[in-house]
Amino acid sequence: AAKAETSAPALSFQELAKSITEDQQVAAGYKAQVVVSWGDALHGGMDAFDPLLLTPAEQERRFGYNNDFIGFMPLPVGSQASDHGLLCVNHEYTNTELMFSGLKGESAKDLISEDQAKVEMAAHGHTIVEVKKGKDGWAVVADSRYNRRISFLSTVCEATGPAAGHARLKTKADPSGRKIVGTLNNCAGGKTPWGTILTAEENIHQYFAGNPEGTPEARNHKRMGIENKPEYGWGRFFERMDVSKEPNEPNRFGWLVEIDPYDPSSTPKKRTALGRFKHEAGTCVVNPDGRVTVYTGDDERFEYLYRFVTKGKFVPNDRKANMGLLDEGTLSVARFDANGTVSWLPLIHGKGKLTAENGFASQADVVIEARRASELLGATPMDRPEDVETNPVNGRVYVMLTNNTKRKPEQVDAANPRANNAYGHILELTAPGGEGKAANHTADTYQWDILLLAGDPSKPDVGARYHPDVTSNGWLAAPDNCTFDNHGRLWIATDQGGDQAKRGVPDGIYATQVDGAQRALTKFFYAVPRDAEMCGPEFTPDGKTLFVSVQHPGEGSTYDKPSTRFPRFKADMPPLPSVVAITKKDGGEIGG
Ligand code: FEO
Ligand code: CA
Ligand code: CA
Ligand code: CA
Repeated sequence: AAKAETSAPALSFQELAKSITEDQQVAAGYKAQVVVSWGDALHGGMDAFDPLLLTPAEQERRFGYNNDFIGFMPLPVGSQASDHGLLCVNHEYTNTELMFSGLKGESAKDLISEDQAKVEMAAHGHTIVEVKKGKDGWAVVADSRYNRRISFLSTVCEATGPAAGHARLKTKADPSGRKIVGTLNNCAGGKTPWGTILTAEENIHQYFAGNPEGTPEARNHKRMGIENKPEYGWGRFFERMDVSKEPNEPNRFGWLVEIDPYDPSSTPKKRTALGRFKHEAGTCVVNPDGRVTVYTGDDERFEYLYRFVTKGKFVPNDRKANMGLLDEGTLSVARFDANGTVSWLPLIHGKGKLTAENGFASQADVVIEARRASELLGATPMDRPEDVETNPVNGRVYVMLTNNTKRKPEQVDAANPRANNAYGHILELTAPGGEGKAANHTADTYQWDILLLAGDPSKPDVGARYHPDVTSNGWLAAPDNCTFDNHGRLWIATDQGGDQAKRGVPDGIYATQVDGAQRALTKFFYAVPRDAEMCGPEFTPDGKTLFVSVQHPGEGSTYDKPSTRFPRFKADMPPLPSVVAITKKDGGEIGG
């Protein structure tokens, strides 16, 4: 449980007022600077960005759309440098009507051309870009040898682990079942202790057209939400995006993908041992015995929280020795009991109900249909498990549960205690063994507690729970991503979607202590521009820069009539999803 005291300094910044504006806002005494935006050139000799002239080939050489996860990877590799490194950034999805002129809302997907579809495919995936901090702040290093786009359109990834090469991963274009073109809907992610990136493939269902009924994968696709209701127009042009023609293609997405950002020629690896679902994140922690635990959520209402523990042990200072660690180990799913215990239920073929009788002929079937396997084991359906992070100071694990307005009163349980949960909550898990590095994230059971129940604490019917001193500006809604500073203080990014306009509450960054007298006293630090969401909070090792992702500014409006033109505010430029660097004006640590 939480400690009564903490050595972490108080969060001394003066919090922002809740107001939605066309520009970003940060607490007084801090500076928020745009580092890289959609369309920025990643290689030398390229023209300035003109969205009206964008081609698929160009997009593959420029920063992608809707940046989400940010990993700061110091240069040189293995150092703790805080003024030079690689930004490894996910590009989750595209907003068709904001990328192209003349398209509107719902019909945009039916109106785009094949070339525009290819631009969208190229704008998905990941960017690795070298950045340096100078006297004018952070800047991209143009034409760095590290700069690289990984896209859905063209980057060949390799499947590894139990589902690699399995019949259910084979397609006409790839009879090997191992060579997968692209990575898709890259949401949050994580960094491994050996200096690679994990990128989480999340809402992969929304891209696939065609009726899955009558295909051998019908039940599987239904569970993943693939039901001939695509939100993109790609299925009109590409056979692989139509499940009636290529029923196995979706089985090649929904994985955690490992990328080595320090080797620009490396092949991204889809680590199938960690299961297939709508992965939100992949947070690693080294255990006292050297094995590595990866936490990952499945972001959908009533889906589950997962953990993977490697079989092998982490070898410090030897990157190569660790590169296959994520291919062997045990995937487990969480069951939360009312007595405050969380049990990790192993998803192992042949054990319990995970047998051929139930449609699991091998571990490949178990990982491909991890959701169905988890349900059979009695895992607890959660209120949309998004980011999961371990606190480097107290060793506890924090789970962001965004919301779940579909939970009915009879479906309430101790760990998901509110029906019609419109605001979300944060759980705190305590592994046995001790604090910090002593915590044993391989144990079969942990204890769990509630850090906070989000929403407006002044409205009794909301049922919010925080520190009693939380202000009208400091309460939050829809916790999505998070990170910790070096003092173990929690920084939360929120994503209310369209609710922020309705509530008049902007998304942004909220910070809180998790131990001591100010536990769960959240304070509002940064606000996104209109109709954006906040993703990717990431500190440099010195805690003096906080990188954040401004995703989909202007969502819900159009290229020709956007609700904001952040960050350039020029009449001929639409809003641009951007990575922002927040620093303290006096050069000190973020948060005080
Ligand atoms: Fe892509 Fe669950 O956020
Ligand atoms: Ca998210
Ligand atoms: Ca995070
Ligand atoms: Ca989100």
